[in-house]
Amino acid sequence: MSHANDQTGTRRDFLYYATAGTGAVVTGAAVWPLVNQMNPSADTLALASIFVDISGVEVGTQLTIKWQGKPVFIRRRNADEIDAARATALDDLVDANAENANKPNANASDENRSLDEAGEWLVMMGVCTHLGCVPIGDGAGDFGGWFCPCHGSHYDSAGRIRKGPAPRNLPVPVAAFQDASTIKLG
Ligand code: FES
Repeated sequence: MSHANDQTGTRRDFLYYATAGTGAVVTGAAVWPLVNQMNPSADTLALASIFVDISGVEVGTQLTIKWQGKPVFIRRRNADEIDAARATALDDLVDANAENANKPNANASDENRSLDEAGEWLVMMGVCTHLGCVPIGDGAGDFGGWFCPCHGSHYDSAGRIRKGPAPRNLPVPVAAFQDASTIKLG
């Protein structure tokens, strides 16, 4: 009798361990891609910071580059664009935050979004904050800035959302002048 019970116990134990073992394997398989994503590849690390030559960017034009897999708009604004952005009352803005990685929690004044004091240079991720389309630039939209045709979001000449479904201003990434003709991203 005890012999039969031992066998049953052994089989139960085996089933238990087999199930636990399978579970562990499945869990491991599910977790690994997440862990792996948290370890940036050598390629990603190499692109963490880049230097952009802006010497050829004319006033009133925009350079679009790809950085970390996303478009970045580097616009050299003309006086009209700067004036319009600086004349806008903060109360008229949908998103009151500068969304500027260089100035966390600053308000969305044009001065807090542009890269230089005069406001000539504006650097932003070219990704609509609604669902991620790439907005059209060069004064597009109702506010003389960028327009996202996917669902009709209008950004002004400081890249601030003014109309449409997008909830936030176009984000300003970590950026700084390396010298007079070079901007460092990241
Ligand atoms: S993705 Fe830009 S408006 Fe929807």
